[in-house]
Amino acid sequence: MDKKWWMESVGYQIYVKSFKDGNDDGIGDLLGIHDKLSYLSDLGVNLLWIGPFYDSPMDDNGYDVRDFFKVNPTYGTLDDVKRIIRDAHQLGIRVILDFVLNHTSDEHPWFVASRSSVDDPKRHYYIWQKGRMTKDGLIEPTNWASFFGGSCWTRNPGTDDYYMHIFSKKMPDLNWANPLVRKEMAKVGAWWLDLGVDGFRIDAVSHLDRAPFEDIETTSRGPVLDWHRFSNLPAVHPYLKEMNERLFKPYGCLTIGEVGGEASIEEGLKYAAFDAEELSMVFNFDHNWCNNLHESDDPDALITDVHCLRRTFMAWQKAFASDGWLPLNWLNHDQPRLLSHYGSKAYPKRSAKMLATMLHMMRGTPFIYQGEEIGMKNYPFTKADEFRDIASIQQMKTLERDMPDVNQEELVRIVAKTSRDHPRTPMQWSDEPNAGFSSQTPWINVHPDYQSVNVRLEQLDHRSILAYYKQLIDLRLSSRYQDVIKDGEIRFLDLDDPDLMTYLRIGDSITLLVINNMHDIEKPYDLSPYDTLRVVISNHDTPIIKDHVLTLKPFESMVFEVKEHL
Ligand code: GLC
Ligand code: CA
Repeated sequence: MDKKWWMESVGYQIYVKSFKDGNDDGIGDLLGIHDKLSYLSDLGVNLLWIGPFYDSPMDDNGYDVRDFFKVNPTYGTLDDVKRIIRDAHQLGIRVILDFVLNHTSDEHPWFVASRSSVDDPKRHYYIWQKGRMTKDGLIEPTNWASFFGGSCWTRNPGTDDYYMHIFSKKMPDLNWANPLVRKEMAKVGAWWLDLGVDGFRIDAVSHLDRAPFEDIETTSRGPVLDWHRFSNLPAVHPYLKEMNERLFKPYGCLTIGEVGGEASIEEGLKYAAFDAEELSMVFNFDHNWCNNLHESDDPDALITDVHCLRRTFMAWQKAFASDGWLPLNWLNHDQPRLLSHYGSKAYPKRSAKMLATMLHMMRGTPFIYQGEEIGMKNYPFTKADEFRDIASIQQMKTLERDMPDVNQEELVRIVAKTSRDHPRTPMQWSDEPNAGFSSQTPWINVHPDYQSVNVRLEQLDHRSILAYYKQLIDLRLSSRYQDVIKDGEIRFLDLDDPDLMTYLRIGDSITLLVINNMHDIEKPYDLSPYDTLRVVISNHDTPIIKDHVLTLKPFESMVFEVKEHL
């Protein structure tokens, strides 16, 4: 295996709007990120993924880009970006940016031109189809729904054709079948790489090709979401090979494609196997929804589905063991908070550390989502006007329409289960007003627990979640265990256990036994197959071992250096 720098990295994801407000207008910004570089360096991460900060009308918080080469003035200036790159590099931290290939804003000059006339040279930068004439008038080219609800087609005023958008109607999809689009997008990437960025997290990368435009069979009247119609279709691969050839490979940059929950492992390998010549890694979401939050009536009462987590982590780890490299991430800016999903209300600190251990001891490149390292939780939404995310607002509207008899409170409860606003409440820096995020009222409410959950408190406590993350990062990047943690073989154990996630990491001369109790029970664990040489890290006091049986406390994690008895 060709060793790349990102195989020796620990990443940290920043959602700009919610990280730190540097100029006190209530909105996170680039100055804020710059101010916190020393915090990040102290945490020990050496790779930042910074979300989109490009010029944008902010329909989807910047994933709707109006100008790829300009910085949204609310977030700062290009000089701020340059300063972040320069000073991060000085601290040994690399920087990757979000690169949005699938769509632009409808206010992007390309789209403004494209929609202006069927003869415009930019017409085929986007996907246009004629509507269908029915006895009820003109209807959309297909009955496909977008991810954010409603049809994925919007009619251009004055004509009978429609443009496609798999997200909001302010985010028209680029037409990747057009070689000019591919060329333009490679130019965008090169411009940022020339500025000094180290690579990209590539947004929604699996959607660049579309199935033939035919209706989905259904009995329902409205549009239907079937992501197969625009996910992982064959032409995605030649497009990415071309981008790799033209852009990624010449710069030797890191590329992590978001393939979401739509890509199978086989697909994942097509994108990111070492010999795929497409992307360095892919973010998949298979482990993101194991507890089936969507369906649950009481998210607080969820008991973690260990079988599902083991099955998915094991399958991806196995498939990529010798042929590729994986990012290791729990959740992100589109998902609920980790602690509220897989952690414990009764044992927040211990369960947060257990979840961190489970992930950070695997093979790959860990990514921490801002706030995870201090145990931030889902926001207790009670009113519809607390939502900011376009997807949540859209979902509220759809529910109001479809469930007219259900009261608002209940609808808010449904949307709150999976709202993308949970991970976007302001980062909690201190117990000062607005959690030290800003001196002004933030654009989205601060979580009410900020006085007891914040960076400052965590920094004062050597047994905090934050201190534990630092320890984990240190183990991976600079301890005597670094090789086995980064790239040792992984062998999952206790495959039928409903409570424990256990695995061995096997290196040339060191073997680690990683044991995580994911439930609120005491649990015996038989250590007799091993000589336990020493404790590498643990989220609890001294382990209780008697007659080779370890008694695990609820949510306890233990990592031992061991010798296996042959
Ligand atoms: C990705 C982003 C998400 C965004 C969408 C459209 O899924 O993570 O936040 O809404 O793409 O760009
Ligand atoms: Ca600001």
